[in-house]
Amino acid sequence: EVYASSVQEKSFIMIKPDGIHRGLIADIIKRFEAKGYKLVAIKVMVPSKDLASKHYEEHAQRPFYPGLVTFLSSGPVVAMVWEGKDVIKYGRKMIGATNPLASTPGTIRGDYGIDVGRNIIHGSDSVESAQREIALWFGAGELAEYDLAMGKWVY
Ligand code: TYD
Ligand code: MG
Repeated sequence: EVYASSVQEKSFIMIKPDGIHRGLIADIIKRFEAKGYKLVAIKVMVPSKDLASKHYEEHAQRPFYPGLVTFLSSGPVVAMVWEGKDVIKYGRKMIGATNPLASTPGTIRGDYGIDVGRNIIHGSDSVESAQREIALWFGAGELAEYDLAMGKWVY
């Protein structure tokens, strides 16, 4: 049998400054926790411009990049690593589409966001980006390894 706690896939999930300012930390954590994912790292920080630039480096040539980097480093973020079966793909589903008009009600962006530039939350979009982002935001010793008893009953 495959239990949640035996599945090692990890995703980097980050509540952006607008999400913190709007008081959505608990709501967002609740959704991931209730789904059955396991929180293995979390911290609050105001990212430097350098860190924000590296996080979004794939978009360096896009017109929205400078504003995006300024926004991300403008206030506190909650950086997290969540673990569980298909957490990368399904986490993106829970977050909702980037385009505000396409983000369905019931998703985090669909429920709380209007503007693409103020869309509350980030989630890794592939195994490779998850690995890169986790290594960028967290040191090796910052990820907890533990069993979630509940995981036995989730799948
Ligand atoms: P992207 O990686 O395409 O979206 P996602 O966050 O869903 O992975 O873009 C990164 C962020 O850049 C996005 O969350 C918001 C911002 N952005 C804009 O401000 N304008 C845009 O046209 C796009 C595509 C993104
Ligand atoms: Mg992205």
